Amino acid sequence: LYQVHYRELFDLWDSDDVPVPRKELLQKVKGVDALVCVLTEKIDAELLDAAGPNLKVLSTMSVGFDHLSLEELKKRGIRVGYTPDVLTDSVAELTVALLLTTSRRLIEATHEAKTGGWGTWRTLWLCGYELANSTVGILGLGRIGVAIAERLKPFKVKKFIYTDVAPRPELASLIDAEYVSMDELASQSDFLTVCCALTPETKDICNKDLFSKMKNTSIFINTSRGGVVDQEDLYEALSSGQIAGAGLDVTVPEPLPTSHPLFTLNNCVILPHIASASYSTRNAMSALAANNLLLGLKGQPMIKELKL
Ligand code: GLV
Ligand code: GLV
Repeated sequence: LYQVHYRELFDLWDSDDVPVPRKELLQKVKGVDALVCVLTEKIDAELLDAAGPNLKVLSTMSVGFDHLSLEELKKRGIRVGYTPDVLTDSVAELTVALLLTTSRRLIEATHEAKTGGWGTWRTLWLCGYELANSTVGILGLGRIGVAIAERLKPFKVKKFIYTDVAPRPELASLIDAEYVSMDELASQSDFLTVCCALTPETKDICNKDLFSKMKNTSIFINTSRGGVVDQEDLYEALSSGQIAGAGLDVTVPEPLPTSHPLFTLNNCVILPHIASASYSTRNAMSALAANNLLLGLKGQPMIKELKL
C-alpha cells in the first residue's frame, strides 16, 4: 500500500458535520482527474458531466455502490474502486450488537432503569428472545452474511438458512447454511438479517408480503441499505405485533427525521448508519480508497475494483 499524504495529494472536503453541498461539489469537480467519494454523494450523469472528460477514476469509500450510476460511469470509461472486505468484521460485529440489543430489549431496559420504571424484579418484565436453539435467516449471502453467522454460531444457533438469487454453495458451506426460498426464509427465521446490496431487484423486497409470513416472535435486522425495506410495511408489522422487533442501521432517508413514526415504537431500534464505524476499519477504508485511486490513475489494477 502507498503511504498516502492526503493533504498534499487531494483537494479535501474537510467537514465532519455536513456532506459537501451538491452545488459546491458540482463546481469543484470541474476538470479533476480522479474523485474520492463517500455514500452521501450521488455520482450520476449530472456530476460526471460537471467533472468533464479528465475524470478517469472514481474511488468510493464504501462497500455499497447504490449511490453510483454504474451505467454512466461505464459509458464514460471511468474506472471505479470500492472498499469491500476491510469492513466485514466491523459490520458483522455491529450487526450482532444490534441483533442482541433488539432481541433483549436493551434500549427499553436502560430507559426503564434510569427513569424509575424499575419497580422490582418481575418474572416476565422486559423478556425478549434468545439466540440459543434459534433459526437465523440471511437475506443475501455474501462475505458479510458469512461473518455474521460465524459470530452467531457460538450463541448456539440451531440452524442457518439463507436465500439469494441462486445458491452459493461455497460460502454456505463455511457456515453450514441451507438454501431456502424467500417464503421459507420468512416463515422459518427467528432472526432475519438482511445482508444484500441495494439494486433495482432488491428494492423494497422486505415488504408486507415478507413480514406477513414471519412469526410474531421474530426479529428483523437490517445493516445493508434502507431501500431494501418498505418502511411503511415495516411500521405496520411492528406496531400490529406481526413481528416482534426490528433493528435498523440504515433507513430511507438518512438521516431519518426525528418525527418519523418508526421512532415512536419501543420494538424498533434505529442506529445512524454506523456499522463500519470503528477507528481501525474507517482507517483501512480510507487507505484502501486512496490506494485504489492512485493505482487507477497509474493505469494499474486497483486493489478492489468494481467490474462494470
Ligand atoms: C457502508 O454502508 C458502506 O457501503 O460502506
Ligand atoms: C436471576 O438473577 C436469577 O437468580 O435467576
